[in-house]
Amino acid sequence: MTEVEQTPALIVDRATALRNIERLRDYSQQHGLRVRPHTKTHKSLEFAVEQIKAGAVGLSVAKAGEAEVMSQVTDDVLVAYPAIDGPRVRRLAALAVTKTIRVAIDSPAGVAILDDAATEADSTIGILVDLDVGFHRTGVQSSDEALAIAQAVARSKSLRLDGLFFFPGHLRDSVEPQISKLRQVDAIVLDAIDALERSGLHVSIVSGGSTPSLYQLHHLKAITEIRPGTYVFNDMSTVAGGYCKIEDCAARVTATVISTAVPGKCVVDAGTKTLAADRNSVRPESGFGYVVEYPDAKIVRLTEEHGEIDITGCDHSPKTGDRLTLIPNHICPCVNLQAIAWTRNLDGSLQPLRIDARGLIS
Ligand SMILES: Cc1ncc(COP(=O)(O)O)c(C=O)c1O
Repeated sequence: MTEVEQTPALIVDRATALRNIERLRDYSQQHGLRVRPHTKTHKSLEFAVEQIKAGAVGLSVAKAGEAEVMSQVTDDVLVAYPAIDGPRVRRLAALAVTKTIRVAIDSPAGVAILDDAATEADSTIGILVDLDVGFHRTGVQSSDEALAIAQAVARSKSLRLDGLFFFPGHLRDSVEPQISKLRQVDAIVLDAIDALERSGLHVSIVSGGSTPSLYQLHHLKAITEIRPGTYVFNDMSTVAGGYCKIEDCAARVTATVISTAVPGKCVVDAGTKTLAADRNSVRPESGFGYVVEYPDAKIVRLTEEHGEIDITGCDHSPKTGDRLTLIPNHICPCVNLQAIAWTRNLDGSLQPLRIDARGLIS
């Protein structure tokens, strides 16, 4: 089968995804960086295996359910999220009996609850102390706070201090301004390393990263591991930031034109329940994605099952029943919405793609 029978359908082009994975492999080898991809983008063992084949040292996840799924294909999982509530922590502690599990945290409460759970499970959990380097979402606000958490880990019974963690989500500029902001990130990380090492604590891992700043991360002196997620498939936000090209977008939605009754518009069978409702993070005014066959069209409004496309700027119009290819603004929530998805193989055939960790949000 080379075409899907039913739409809307998310189709991942394997050749493009593999090219994205290989680009990262080459970059990381060139700069001596370890790669631990964030699997929240594809949520699938199929692509996790490809990342491992390309040299990933382990995988990153956000949730315990994702850790359970991804540990089927790796022995080494980083929970890049402050997993500090009871049930979640107990699941991670159980996983840590047979796997290397690390968690990034920014609170003394996190140390206490993870230590109790690991002690109860008779396992050891590695800890990375989360630093706020400018995104202002999570992360300790000073090296003193980082040191206090690190010391609490060092005093704990069943935790192991492994290092530091940060998420540079505020770096969404073009390359030049990123480099000066990365110097500020570096200063924060180096200061924290200094504080810990002066107190006799060893920092063996410094984990950071995100797709927009991915290929600038070698400018950071202290980073040892990079943790991008979106790079594997890319999306229109990544394109708008100039971090990839349209042809690097591996995951696209095939949709059918279901109405052309309203002048100036066509409507497709893909709304927020297919594409997700995210605006483009770099160009919010650009609509809800990109129509490959009609580059001058604009997806102006989404309701749950309808995508309304303004075609007044196009020199010809789609007809009812036509199929269109849409690239979402944010591929990660789009993937998470699909009960059925497809991989386009190198020979053009389609095979079902399992989104193994789909909907695992705890
Ligand atoms: C903590 C953390 N690390 C890494 C990533 C990966 O970032 P990106 O998808 O931009 O590559 C994310 C994305 O949400 C994240 O929250």
